[in-house]
Amino acid sequence: MFEKNLYQGQRVLITGGGTGLGFAMARKLASLGAEVHLCGRRLAVLEQAVDALQAEFGCQAFGHALDIRSAENVTQVVEHIWQQHGPLTALINNAAGNFVSRTEDLSPNAFHAISDIVFRGTFYVTQAVGRKWIAGQLPGAVLSIVVTWVDTGAPFVVPSAMSKAGLDAMTKSLAVEWGPKRIRLNAIAPGVIPTQGASSRLRPDVKGNEDSADQRRLDNPTRRLGTGDDIGNLAAYILAPENTWLNGQTITLDGGDALANGAYFTDYQAWDDEDWASAKQKAKSANAS
Ligand code: HXC
Repeated sequence: MFEKNLYQGQRVLITGGGTGLGFAMARKLASLGAEVHLCGRRLAVLEQAVDALQAEFGCQAFGHALDIRSAENVTQVVEHIWQQHGPLTALINNAAGNFVSRTEDLSPNAFHAISDIVFRGTFYVTQAVGRKWIAGQLPGAVLSIVVTWVDTGAPFVVPSAMSKAGLDAMTKSLAVEWGPKRIRLNAIAPGVIPTQGASSRLRPDVKGNEDSADQRRLDNPTRRLGTGDDIGNLAAYILAPENTWLNGQTITLDGGDALANGAYFTDYQAWDDEDWASAKQKAKSANAS
């Protein structure tokens, strides 16, 4: 789909780059010649991911421990990359946190657990990288991973829906504010692309949900779920260095699912107290693993 060396000379930071969708995008860009910088909270996971990329592509790949909830930590890591490696050319805001819960059950801490990562943390990274581009009068490209519920809303994931909608607004706003500085921002709104991190927290196997992956596949107009290659290819297209006129767009990548079926998780209306307790316990064990 792409020229082999499309990303030669490009240096891309991917938050949450060690696993799931972040790793899938890193893999695609590395395969096209990019130098990739994977950030995440768990250094051991990043080191494994870096080793895998180097073994597969012989590429330049680096891991940096980073908790994007800390603006100070973000500034340090961005500064370190600039000093040790050189200016970034692109940023992928992929790191996220989420779990399903009845909204009336959420404590303030539970709301912050999600919004501090998705809403605040993503802003900190975008601002830190944007400041460096502006100070150096350099062009740059930002890709933020949102989700189709920025359009539909989504029951039982309200802190995520609110935060992701904020990122959608950030994308549109900064596309205009920073466009004259040759910094462009776009977003992908993926549908269901199963990953361990998301499935364990959003689709715990409680009542009537055991065969939900199959059902979601059948409900999708394309009769399949998304893959890492799907999002990797779209990320590579959006961030391609020649693609300088694509700005301020949120592109849905879901096989037409939101058009056909609308919001996710409406089936959870049928869950009772026991189901919610079980979902919470399963999400917590996912945190521990
Ligand atoms: C209700 C919960 C809860 C749950 C935690 N809390 N889990 N409440 N249901 N399942 C509450 C706790 O009781 C606590 O409040 C507060 O939240 C913080 O709890 P912690 O255990 O300290 O949470 P923390 O360690 O911060 O972990 C939460 C997390 C974690 C940050 C969200 O799950 C995480 O790191 N996730 C990263 C990976 C991830 O989530 N991936 C999925 C992304 S999917 P109290 O009041 O008791 O102190 C996505 C959208 C994809 O973003 C869309 C696909 C279609």
